[in-house]
Amino acid sequence: MKRIALLASLLFLVVTLHACISHAHSNSTAEALALLDWKASLLSLTNHSVLPSWTISSRNAEASPCSWFGVHCKGDSVSRINLTSYGVKGTFHAFPFSSLPNLEELDLSINGLFGTIPPQINRLSNLTYLDLSYNQLSGRTPPQIGQLIHLKTLHLVQNLLNGSILKEIG
Ligand SMILES: *[C@@H]1O[C@H](CO)[C@@H](O)[C@H](O)[C@H]1NC(C)=O
Ligand SMILES: *[C@@H]1O[C@H](CO)[C@@H](O)[C@H](O)[C@H]1NC(C)=O
Ligand SMILES: *[C@@H]1O[C@H](CO)[C@@H](O)[C@H](O)[C@H]1NC(C)=O
Ligand SMILES: *[C@@H]1O[C@H](CO)[C@@H](O)[C@H](O)[C@H]1NC(C)=O
Ligand SMILES: *[C@@H]1O[C@H](CO)[C@@H](O)[C@H](O)[C@H]1NC(C)=O
Repeated sequence: MKRIALLASLLFLVVTLHACISHAHSNSTAEALALLDWKASLLSLTNHSVLPSWTISSRNAEASPCSWFGVHCKGDSVSRINLTSYGVKGTFHAFPFSSLPNLEELDLSINGLFGTIPPQINRLSNLTYLDLSYNQLSGRTPPQIGQLIHLKTLHLVQNLLNGSILKEIG
């Protein structure tokens, strides 16, 4: 009898531990860490620090980006990022295209983004809304944008982009 009780409590401990560990490595933590990599690559166009709310508190075992400025979630996964007119300067090189599988809306219009739009943009497979207008993005508009089959709205005006994507979309 004692043995069964011991076994049962051991099993309970293992299950609880496992739940804790998988929670700590939940999608929201991965998405938070990925977004922080991008944040680290950004500069501010103003004298304010860049995205002060984008941080992981060490007291918090659960790291979620869902309460960060400009970030909205569905469940515990990022569904919308809106940093329009926020005064960020930077590139897409460290943007976590592969780590945001449920991102539906991305509005980074009216900022100081420069460099190219990487072809990895096609990894944002649930994207319905993309606004990168009024930045300094240059180079070729990646035809991979045409692979975003859910995309309904695309704003790229007022950049230094080259090339038409009409062919790929049509
Ligand atoms: C969490 O990640 C797993 C494995 O990567 C995936 O199957 C699942 O759909 C994700 N859940 C959400 C809410 O994104
Ligand atoms: C930043 O601060 C410096 C010195 O305090 C000031 O001269 C400059 O205009 C400020 N720039 C912006 C964008 O606010
Ligand atoms: C982003 O936020 C601004 C104002 O904060 C709003 O006008 C705009 O519609 C938002 N964009 C999206 C895609 O929700
Ligand atoms: C995102 O896309 C995947 C595969 O295309 C799909 O299974 C999933 O349901 C989508 N998530 C949302 C929130 O639409
Ligand atoms: C656009 O393409 C032309 C020819 O390929 C090139 O000379 C020019 O530098 C490009 N402009 C930009 C802004 O990338």
